[in-house]
Amino acid sequence: MLSIKVNSIKMKDMMREKRLIELEEILGIKLKIVKEGMADIIVPRLEEYADKYGHIDPARAPVFYNPIMEANRDLAIVCAIAYKKAHSRGELTICEPLCATGVRGVRYALEVKNAHKIIMSDISDLAVKIARLNAFINGLTGRIEVYKNEANRLLLKYAQKDLRFDVIDIDPFGSPIYFIQNAIRALKHKGLLAVTATDLAPLVGVYPMTCKRRYFAYSIRSPFSREIGLRILIASIIREGALLEVALIPVLAYYMDHYFRCYFIMSRSISQVDRLLDEIGYVFYCPNCGMRWLKKGIIPAGEAKCPICNGSPLIAGPLWLGRIAENEFIKAVIEEVDFRKKEIGSYRRIRKLLDRLHDEVEMPPYYYRVDEAFILRATKNEVSPKHIIEILVNNGYRASLTHFNPKGFKTDAKPEDITNLLYEHSLKAKQ
Ligand SMILES: C[S@@+](CC[C@H](N)C(=O)[O-])C[C@H]1O[C@@H](n2cnc3c(N)ncnc32)[C@H](O)[C@@H]1O
Ligand SMILES: [Zn+2]
Repeated sequence: MLSIKVNSIKMKDMMREKRLIELEEILGIKLKIVKEGMADIIVPRLEEYADKYGHIDPARAPVFYNPIMEANRDLAIVCAIAYKKAHSRGELTICEPLCATGVRGVRYALEVKNAHKIIMSDISDLAVKIARLNAFINGLTGRIEVYKNEANRLLLKYAQKDLRFDVIDIDPFGSPIYFIQNAIRALKHKGLLAVTATDLAPLVGVYPMTCKRRYFAYSIRSPFSREIGLRILIASIIREGALLEVALIPVLAYYMDHYFRCYFIMSRSISQVDRLLDEIGYVFYCPNCGMRWLKKGIIPAGEAKCPICNGSPLIAGPLWLGRIAENEFIKAVIEEVDFRKKEIGSYRRIRKLLDRLHDEVEMPPYYYRVDEAFILRATKNEVSPKHIIEILVNNGYRASLTHFNPKGFKTDAKPEDITNLLYEHSLKAKQ
């Protein structure tokens, strides 16, 4: 019934209110058409699903569509393009096993040249219908297949030679961890795995027990919890790979709008798995004096005392202590982003993110904040991170901004070096 009606609808008609109303009646949901990237996408009219205070939560709509995630999707497209070029992949097959409206898959098909087959699935009937409609109105029915299936089941169906994908994009509600192993099984050697996590509360230390159960790691509340959370997620995904003797090499990972996103290249090299595991360890944080230090290895972190003030540190991990992005990959992505500047809705946000990542990628795996107690003792009032970075760099330290927090900065200087310099600087300023 639905397919007969849908097939008779041409794109230009679809734009007409009348057709949309017809579809709304068939599907029993309020709809609208939005433009994202090169795609026209039928999505739920979110305003209709606001709560009694008028607050819009995309998760309340019968099918999920979050306009704020456009930046996530923009970057997903560009990363797939950069990956394709960097790894000289020919035609790409892409899988999005939690597709909702299908916006992401449709955009992959339209915007990634040579993405010749896109397989999508969702557990929701309505999502599958809308995703098929979106493939149809964008003229992609030959290249996109949409199935009603549970993500793990779908991935397992493709976990065999000749069926595996070049790119798999896991974009769920909450944690992606339940899907990683089957995604690995369905991914080609040197394939690209893209992962979103929106369960930040466990990862940043608000629900540490949930973090322990889900990621087998301690998360803590600290001034740099966002970075700890992202690094716990990366380590946990790497461990899922290690169980299957597969290396998942992080090429780009970041925090934005209350989610984490990570891109990995998969390799079946055992020595690479071992090298990755060597980069996992713990971060120690002394809330008393602000000191942070690291310990590599996934043996239990054990008891510790702060080497500066003898205070009791908080311990986070196991977490990833290596780079959260590869320089070459960032450069390739920046090049693509600039090339597509006019087509990318979130160009400015993405460009800023990539610039920050580029600057911070070689820095220690933690950051400081200008509003931390030990810094405020020296500065009295909050100063800008750029000001502190200038002082540090002028005194021979490495320092950069960080994408994790607008009040944050990274440096190889120790907290006492930072405060000494800040005191010195304020004394000079007074003279
Ligand atoms: C966050 S939404 C996906 C958003 C989409 N990737 C995008 O870019 O707009 C998550 C989707 O996963 C679906 N879902 C939840 N659990 C699932 C499962 N186990 N298998 C397949 N789909 C699932 C939900 O119905 C929902 O549509
Ligand atoms: Zn201390």
